[in-house]
Amino acid sequence: MALEKFIVVGGHRLKGEVTVSGSKNAALPILAATLLAEGSCSLGNIPRLRDVDVLARILQTLGVSVERDPLGRIATKVTSEENSVAPYELVSTMRASFCVLGPLLAKRGFARVSLPGGCALGDRPVDLHLKGLRALGAEITIEHGYVVARAKKLRGANIYLGGQSGSSVLGTANVMMAAALAEGQTVIEHAACEPEVEDLANFLKEMGASIEGAGSHRIHIRGVRRLEGCTYDVIPDRIEAATLLMAAAITGGEVTIRNIEPTHLEAVFDKFREAGIVLGRNCRVVTIAMQGRPKEIEVSTLPYPGFPTDLQAPMMALMSKGEGASVFTDGIYPDRLSHVAELKRMGARILRVNNTCVVIGGEKLQGAPVMSSDLRAGAALVLAGLAAEGETHVRRIYHIDRGYENFEGKLRSLGAVIKRVEDETPEKPPTV
Ligand code: EPU
Repeated sequence: MALEKFIVVGGHRLKGEVTVSGSKNAALPILAATLLAEGSCSLGNIPRLRDVDVLARILQTLGVSVERDPLGRIATKVTSEENSVAPYELVSTMRASFCVLGPLLAKRGFARVSLPGGCALGDRPVDLHLKGLRALGAEITIEHGYVVARAKKLRGANIYLGGQSGSSVLGTANVMMAAALAEGQTVIEHAACEPEVEDLANFLKEMGASIEGAGSHRIHIRGVRRLEGCTYDVIPDRIEAATLLMAAAITGGEVTIRNIEPTHLEAVFDKFREAGIVLGRNCRVVTIAMQGRPKEIEVSTLPYPGFPTDLQAPMMALMSKGEGASVFTDGIYPDRLSHVAELKRMGARILRVNNTCVVIGGEKLQGAPVMSSDLRAGAALVLAGLAAEGETHVRRIYHIDRGYENFEGKLRSLGAVIKRVEDETPEKPPTV
């Protein structure tokens, strides 16, 4: 398949209204949780994304029928429980697919799921997932790159899920899904509090699970015998919403964002406030009318409710046009800085020491050919392109397609000049 790239012509102020899609990071574990259901599930607000397609393919190989109706809802139904193997070819392309492990184990007593391996964000371990499932009584071995998990019956337990970098979002999801069908009570301590974890808990509860405390660091789960299919709508994507606000800000624009849950973005809005960016909030609508350049800020990424690592790259792009020197530290993924070198190619002034970057804001960015190497880095480069002089060619946009529904269409509707074209530049082997 030919690769595609975006050509962004900078210098156009964004103006207008745009609607946020459903949350990718809520939709993926919720889709995995449909493995637990006896009947059919009907899911709304599931974004049209490459990652959703990959998970749908994995679910299909695991005997789940997955269909999208003309209105965009996804219907799922488990039609066969024969195959419990999630293969390397699919899992290695998307880490989130590892969260089929908990549901398969709980429902079928057996799972063989490929270890996802590292990715552009670094060496992303799964030790917390395995620790939690072992505590529930699973027997787990690693065989030829696969996690092989077995359990006749899972039993509730007290599980501490804190790791070196804090809590784990998908680790909490995996263990919570398994515990929902375990015998007895489970308490997850140091659970991830992200809204996506709470959304998964709400979906499981809609299916009949007994869960309290999701959204806090302690989750209580009382196992039930069976979970039924249900109808559910996924929360809006807080990362997409904030990325669109940052796109408006970097172009000095005036934009209204609809279908946003502002309470999920308090840490981000607090940084906006420090940077002198004024927002209007009204229920599920947020407006931005950017005046001047953002003022210098310090950003440290933290688990929720702190500033999300997923917004570190787009915020850095914004601050490269700011006043003064802003400081960014990513404590969750210390290597999530591949956008730095690309932003520098566009004229951004960034000094890096380990996982900290000092961004010396400037008035100008210049269009350049750049390469996205992960989803949020790709979005950051598009944002920089919107504010740069001339044309920016953002390559490898398949990363962006993983997680932003119709990104260029939404930006274009706000007046951005951006088009998707076939990338005819030959792919070169990596430079060493
Ligand atoms: N970690 C461990 N052991 C584990 C699991 C995680 O040490 O067993 C560490 C990680 O290496 C990292 C930290 O814990 O330093 C947090 O990782 P977490 O497990 O929370 O990440 P994740 O669940 O794999 C989700 C999102 C990511 C997002 C992170 C952090 C999904 C599908 N993915 O990943 O989203 O960056 O939480 O908030 O929910 C993205 O959307 O671009 C993206 C990468």
